[in-house]
Amino acid sequence: MDNRNKSEEKNLSRRKFLTGTSALAVGALATGGILGLVKPGLAAGAPVTVMVNGKKITGSVLPRIEKNTTLVPAREVAEGLGAKISWDGTNKTVNISGQAQGNPAAAKWPYPYTKLDPEVIRKKGHLGYYEGACCYGAFSAIIGELSDKIGSPFTQIPSDMMRYGEGGVAGWASLCGAINGTCAAINLVTGEDNYKELVSELMSYYCETPLPTDTSNKYAVKHAFLVDTYKTDAELGKSVSGSPLCHASVTNWCQATGFASGSSERSERCGRLTGDLAAHAVKLLNDLYDKKFVPAFTLPASVQECRSCHSKGKDYQKGQFTRGKMDCVQCHDPH
Ligand code: HEC
Ligand code: HEC
Repeated sequence: MDNRNKSEEKNLSRRKFLTGTSALAVGALATGGILGLVKPGLAAGAPVTVMVNGKKITGSVLPRIEKNTTLVPAREVAEGLGAKISWDGTNKTVNISGQAQGNPAAAKWPYPYTKLDPEVIRKKGHLGYYEGACCYGAFSAIIGELSDKIGSPFTQIPSDMMRYGEGGVAGWASLCGAINGTCAAINLVTGEDNYKELVSELMSYYCETPLPTDTSNKYAVKHAFLVDTYKTDAELGKSVSGSPLCHASVTNWCQATGFASGSSERSERCGRLTGDLAAHAVKLLNDLYDKKFVPAFTLPASVQECRSCHSKGKDYQKGQFTRGKMDCVQCHDPH
């Protein structure tokens, strides 16, 4: 509210946006931004602390007791509960809108999916890389677009939670963040029945495809913002990572192109690759949505051979103390 004039204090109608579980009964509102809460038994002038969802109310008007009623700033309480508040000066009315919140249960997994445009996602993933790196970029491209198209429950998900995946998990160069963020999004909208199939498809695409793709190379070259900021408008060379590990993937690309791992070209490569992965995931998700998805992933023959003994199993003597789908011979010599 713009108007916090105390002289205009006047009780308004009761507004039931507070939860039923709240110990505070909603009392009267005052136009000066003061929400009255009936709380019998407190002496006038007593210092009052008001907490909204665990956060202490602060502001220009401090909570106080008058006529056995605790007066607290309406804006802080309303906004603290996630409601919208506005001041209608003509009608001298405080408008508060919102829903009783309590602790709503999380939406049931999987979340709904609707078809997205892979090329929009490719661009968003690429740009998202420069906001919060690879993992965030891939996740926010897909979930942000679903949030725009579907709204809740996607609006409840902070893409910032995916920032940890940067540089193969906080710079550890383990799982590529673009894979990590993309797979989190895939998992969220596919659920138990399909997420593994789509994830395997995405992992093998990542390991076997020369990246960044021509499409993202062409798109990014035209992107003036990057030319100015990162001085990287060139079509970048490609490499096949052969591995989902950030360490191997980045190193292979640096060796293939001659750019250092700390160069802006390498960053830009990861940005384009982030868009490529998110776009590929959306193609797979669109196929699944259209009931056209056919799982195509098979283990490469060389890995299959190693896995005939070294797979998840109970017989330690057979070598069943290890597992995985990564290409074994890049790290081990065959025996
Ligand atoms: C016929 C079964 C079999 C196949 C196929 C097989 N291994 Fe093994 N491997 C074993 C067994 C059993 C051991 C344990 C040997 C020991 O500890 O004496 C072992 C041990 C190893 C070790 C431990 C170090 C060593 O050399 O003792 C590595 C690494 C390894 N295998 C990698 C591979 C890779 C990579 C492949 C595929 C290229 C592969 N293995 C295929 C059965 C197999
Ligand atoms: C990214 C590199 C990498 C990849 C890919 C990889 N491994 Fe390993 N593997 C390791 C490391 C590191 C160890 C631990 C080595 C150690 O402590 O001796 C290990 C351990 C093992 C061991 C036990 C070695 C021992 O001395 O007892 C076996 C067997 C093994 N791996 C088999 C495989 C097989 C089969 C695959 C493919 C499905 C595979 N590995 C893929 C890196 C890798």
